[in-house]
Amino acid sequence: MELIDGKAVAAKVLDECRAGVEELASAGLRPGLAVVLVGEDPASRAYVRSKERTCRDLGLHSVKLELPATTSQAELLEVVGDLNADPAIHGILVQSPPPPQIDEAAIVLAIDPAKDVDGFHPQNVAKLALEDPSGFVPCTPLGCQRLLGEYGVNTRGAHAVVVGRSMIVGKPMAMLLMAKGELADATVTVAHSRTADLAAVCQRADILIAAVGRPHFLGAEHVREGAVVIDVGINRVDDPAAKRGYRLVGDVDFDAVASRCSAITPVPGGVGPMTIAMLMSNTIKACRQITSASH
Ligand code: GUN
Repeated sequence: MELIDGKAVAAKVLDECRAGVEELASAGLRPGLAVVLVGEDPASRAYVRSKERTCRDLGLHSVKLELPATTSQAELLEVVGDLNADPAIHGILVQSPPPPQIDEAAIVLAIDPAKDVDGFHPQNVAKLALEDPSGFVPCTPLGCQRLLGEYGVNTRGAHAVVVGRSMIVGKPMAMLLMAKGELADATVTVAHSRTADLAAVCQRADILIAAVGRPHFLGAEHVREGAVVIDVGINRVDDPAAKRGYRLVGDVDFDAVASRCSAITPVPGGVGPMTIAMLMSNTIKACRQITSASH
């Protein structure tokens, strides 16, 4: 069993980003990312902090907007409008999930698609379906695809089973893997929590991607001998013995499946670091596209 080291691959992606930032700097340009967090969700706060740290590290212009949990739809729309108009900002991310009074779809629709580094705007969703490379692909599935590539996992003709159908991971992951070309050309099955006989469906996977957001949802009965397992889950479970009172576990019961896999991502240290690295990469792409379009 090979452990897929997301930290190491993320470091490689960030080195590429650093080179991109230097190249843009020599043209007098600096990519800028705005991250908007509404409310106090502790996991979201942790992601946002880590995004900001990585921006600093790369020399990106970084704006973090922390808005109170009581922020109205109109206030948030105004913030997004200001960021759309700000020439120093090339990427806008509104952390999901927002508080219940916020209509997330309407917020996503208000983000300039050219700055939608999350790839959530319908225009970017369509570009992914159309295999138009000018669009933005959501960071987490993009990171998963890169991990497969770095570890030499063959996707062409392989059967990939994606467990989870979210707009953030499951759906875009399926579209990426079924697309034509390098690191794609897979036969894709999308399963989810309501799939009948999930274990039998998962057992057919050469590549199993778990993105349901439930701790240890998949166990040994879901994994075929020799399969590659990508675990997208980052779930907090109570653990009185842990320093913070919780620990992070994946959607896959790592200990139960590891010996069956040919390769598997750990949690933490697998997909997590890749998401942030791909966000930086998308922000640099946005800066390039926006600035070359305006010349
Ligand atoms: N919440 C969990 N993952 C993501 C992500 O990739 N982008 C945003 N905006 N929110 C998230």
